[in-house]
Amino acid sequence: MLKNLTDTILLSPSIIAADLSTLGSVVTTFDHSFIHFLHIDVMDGCFVPNITIGPGYIKNLKQHTDIPLDIHLMIEKPELSLQSYIDCKPYCLTIHFESTRQPVRLLQSIKNSGVKAGVSINPATPVEQLFDILAYTDMVLLMSVEPGFYGQTFIPSSLKKIEKLNRFIQTNNFNTIIEVDGGITKDNIADVVKAGATMIVAGSSVFKSADVNEQARKLLETAKKAQ
Ligand code: DX5
Ligand code: ZN
Repeated sequence: MLKNLTDTILLSPSIIAADLSTLGSVVTTFDHSFIHFLHIDVMDGCFVPNITIGPGYIKNLKQHTDIPLDIHLMIEKPELSLQSYIDCKPYCLTIHFESTRQPVRLLQSIKNSGVKAGVSINPATPVEQLFDILAYTDMVLLMSVEPGFYGQTFIPSSLKKIEKLNRFIQTNNFNTIIEVDGGITKDNIADVVKAGATMIVAGSSVFKSADVNEQARKLLETAKKAQ
């Protein structure tokens, strides 16, 4: 269970900030002790104004690494292609609450296939909207930027949402962890962890530097000090 991992901070670097054309060889150099997951942003040009990759690329990448995959679907009607992402055998698969009329059905399909189920919300969606479906989740991915692009600035009101969700999870004993995604840097990662997030996505702050392992190590060190 993801929940068993909450005593530690998990880092999930977002590969769209890397050079996707060479990642297959570069990924073999990633240090598993700092890079716990690979965050895979799937965008369809409809739910978000950008297009990235699909199951074909993900399956190819998986041939080159044992690092578990954390797939984030930013696509309309994920029910139409959910199975092809389940078939990629990620560790966790996250759908957007705003992208479907049947989030519970999709979360159940993900869980029934043996993959951890995540649900994500955009900055404008109140966190309370998830309270009734938390029992069906292993993870909530709170967007701290508008989804669509890496390299944006963290939206400060996200901290209150993390705190509110964390309080609700603790009070009701849910087995759900909080992942935060967007604009995370060495300057705000401590606040995000203090607010209750244990899984952290970082795109540009990991990949926009020559030494990916060193950037990940430093981020993780800062996050752990805040715990
Ligand atoms: C945005 C994506 C994020 C993004 C993170 O739509 O979901 O995962 O790549 O990149 P940074 O950390 O640069 O905001
Ligand atoms: Zn993401």
